[in-house]
Amino acid sequence: MIFETDRFYLRRMTLADATDMFILDSNPNVHRYLGNNPVSSVEQSKTMIKDILAQYESVDMGRLAIIRKEDQAFVGWSGLKYERQLRDTFDYYDLGYRLKEEYWGQGIATEVAKASLRYGFMDRNLTKICAGAHVDNGASAHILTKIGMIQKDDFTFENILCHWYELTREEWLKQQSMDEC
Ligand SMILES: CC(C)(COP(=O)(O)OP(=O)(O)OC[C@H]1O[C@@H](n2cnc3c(N)ncnc32)[C@H](O)[C@@H]1OP(=O)(O)O)[C@@H](O)C(=O)NCCC(=O)NCCS
Repeated sequence: MIFETDRFYLRRMTLADATDMFILDSNPNVHRYLGNNPVSSVEQSKTMIKDILAQYESVDMGRLAIIRKEDQAFVGWSGLKYERQLRDTFDYYDLGYRLKEEYWGQGIATEVAKASLRYGFMDRNLTKICAGAHVDNGASAHILTKIGMIQKDDFTFENILCHWYELTREEWLKQQSMDEC
């Protein structure tokens, strides 16, 4: 386990997650704001997992499986990724989340995203965490704002207009101390 929340623990993915990842990524609704390109074979999901495993090796960071404590169900993934492709001019640590549709609307992405920020700033000493989201992805925009990320200028990736969010460690620490008041 890398970190946990009240309801979930987040652990590194393994190739044994391929069937769950296929269920997740073959759903067109899940990919609605991700370029509308769902996977069509378990082999594609295995390739995605192998890429994540390579990131664990190369930068000791990558998306993590969300496992529900009560029944060990694979809910989806969240966590941080060292992102080299989304922005043209810089690399950064990206916060993300993707859940199987049956788990939407239960506050899960918010819960694991908050814990991902804590993990990044406290356990990994990151100085800044960023995120991008399709401008029409209202749920994602709402979550990112709710957990304290600050919206900056929009950008375009593969012809998709996206909102851009940033949060520094200092800003996050200030938000935590205000929450305690
Ligand atoms: C986006 C996603 C992760 C949200 O997961 P979730 O667990 O359902 O999210 P949460 O329940 O924690 O929070 C969703 C919030 O957005 C709100 N919301 C939902 N749809 C919304 C919309 N269209 N516009 C604005 N807010 C919306 C909800 O009311 C909720 O806010 P609240 O808790 O303050 O009431 C999930 O739908 C998903 O996996 N989508 C596919 C992948 C994806 O788009 N990932 C994000 C890429 S940037």
